[in-house]
Amino acid sequence: MWSLLAVLLCELLALAGASSVKPSSPKGFVTQKNGQFELDGKPFNFVGANSYWLPLLTTTADVDATFKEMQSAGIKVLRTWGFNAINGSEVADALQSGLTYYQVWNSSDWVLNDGPQGLQRLDYVVNTAGKYGIKLILAFTNNWVGYGGMELYINWIAGAGNTHDVFYTNPKIVQSYQRYVSTIVNRYKNSPNIFAWEMMNEARCLGDLPSGPACVPGTELLTKWYQQQSNFIRSLDPFHMITTGGEGHFYWKDKNIGFWFDGVFNSDYNFNGQAGEDFDTDLTLPNVDFGTYHLYPQTWYPELDTPGSNFSIKDWGSFWIQAHATAAKKANKPVLLEEFGVTGLQNKTEIYSVWVDLALKTKHAGIFPWQFGMLGLKEDGGNRLIKYADAIIDGASPNDGFAIYKNQTAVWNIFTNVAKVQASRSG
Ligand SMILES: *[C@@H]1O[C@H](CO)[C@@H](O)[C@H](O)[C@H]1NC(C)=O
Ligand SMILES: *[C@@H]1O[C@H](CO)[C@@H](O)[C@H](O)[C@H]1NC(C)=O
Ligand SMILES: *[C@@H]1O[C@H](CO)[C@@H](O)[C@H](O)[C@H]1NC(C)=O
Ligand SMILES: *[C@@H]1O[C@H](CO)[C@@H](O)[C@H](O)[C@H]1NC(C)=O
Ligand SMILES: *[C@@H]1O[C@H](CO)[C@@H](O)[C@H](O)[C@H]1NC(C)=O
Repeated sequence: MWSLLAVLLCELLALAGASSVKPSSPKGFVTQKNGQFELDGKPFNFVGANSYWLPLLTTTADVDATFKEMQSAGIKVLRTWGFNAINGSEVADALQSGLTYYQVWNSSDWVLNDGPQGLQRLDYVVNTAGKYGIKLILAFTNNWVGYGGMELYINWIAGAGNTHDVFYTNPKIVQSYQRYVSTIVNRYKNSPNIFAWEMMNEARCLGDLPSGPACVPGTELLTKWYQQQSNFIRSLDPFHMITTGGEGHFYWKDKNIGFWFDGVFNSDYNFNGQAGEDFDTDLTLPNVDFGTYHLYPQTWYPELDTPGSNFSIKDWGSFWIQAHATAAKKANKPVLLEEFGVTGLQNKTEIYSVWVDLALKTKHAGIFPWQFGMLGLKEDGGNRLIKYADAIIDGASPNDGFAIYKNQTAVWNIFTNVAKVQASRSG
């Protein structure tokens, strides 16, 4: 009798313990607490690399060489695409050119390619990263058409004539997206080589399709989607961190932030909610572990930095960096300057040093320039068209004007020095 009671008592105690203590993460998994990342109980701050093209390489030796170069630059986290989707009509070309693809769309039910030209390439990247002390952020789809984003789901499931934002509400699309998310999460959820899952690259109300009336300031459509999807991912994987992958747009209702051009005030979509995100609110979601934002003022404000404006790209960037540091501090969560770029070597040298100094001063946990450049790739003799205009030319990884190669010493050194500062702030 008393032994039965003892068993019952033990079970009750175990239950009480389970409900009050969150199970601790497995060894080697990064977590966040009080505005900081932690790796095995010690602070973790770093420089990251963006390289969407790494899983598109066809030879494992080139993947290893790239990781080795990243490691020697002090990089600790790599952000890449966890998606590569094509239409059925593109399969023949893909096979011929060696293009990596994970999903094929021939109908409203995409088909998985987990073969050697499919997810096995991503497997190699995920499994190899740890050998070089690197962890990955994997994004599940793209706001833009590049490498098979949201527009494929919309075209094949909802059909022509829909706006971009139906992606966030159409139940069949949500289900299809979640089927893909489950595939990737279940494949890698036990790996300490995953740093975090990313719901989308640069989610917005509009994409290559226009936005509709359901996605306007105040509807919080994206915030609801982030909440739904982050809860879904958490239900599959209790331990890895989750983030948005967003550009970090604000919805500041009480402040009309803008810029002056030719004597006219222009309200800024990055602050007035028009783009779709609400950075402050999104960061408070329970299963969004940290914030991300991107920074491309030269591209976002092409009419500025010219006579008629009192605007400078450098100052706008500093304002944007400070604004996200302040918001992250308020939410008590870490933030990543997850993509940024300007064109021109001299611009890069002058502007990046100012921006990264401020990012370090404001305790950014991770700084990721767009994008990592690799020289000396061997595949296909060092010349290969990948997709769109992306190509490996004379062994150099694709360059969209933003790539930073090691031979660009001044710019390269900015980031290797930042990596040293971040290492000194880590355990
Ligand atoms: C894929 O097919 C859909 C439907 O036919 C089409 O609308 C879309 O433009 C195609 N996308 C690409 C990248 O070829
Ligand atoms: C999709 O259709 C193409 C022809 O357009 C065909 O070659 C391919 O095998 C199909 N793929 C799948 C996965 O059904
Ligand atoms: C630009 O000019 C406007 C109008 O004179 C002023 O209110 C604003 O503060 C100026 N912005 C900067 C960044 O100097
Ligand atoms: C450097 O930045 C200025 C100002 O935005 C721009 O006009 C110029 O084209 C940039 N230089 C290069 C080489 O891209
Ligand atoms: C660095 O390498 C790239 C790619 O091969 C090349 O285009 C560029 O001219 C090189 N830059 C310098 C400064 O040597």
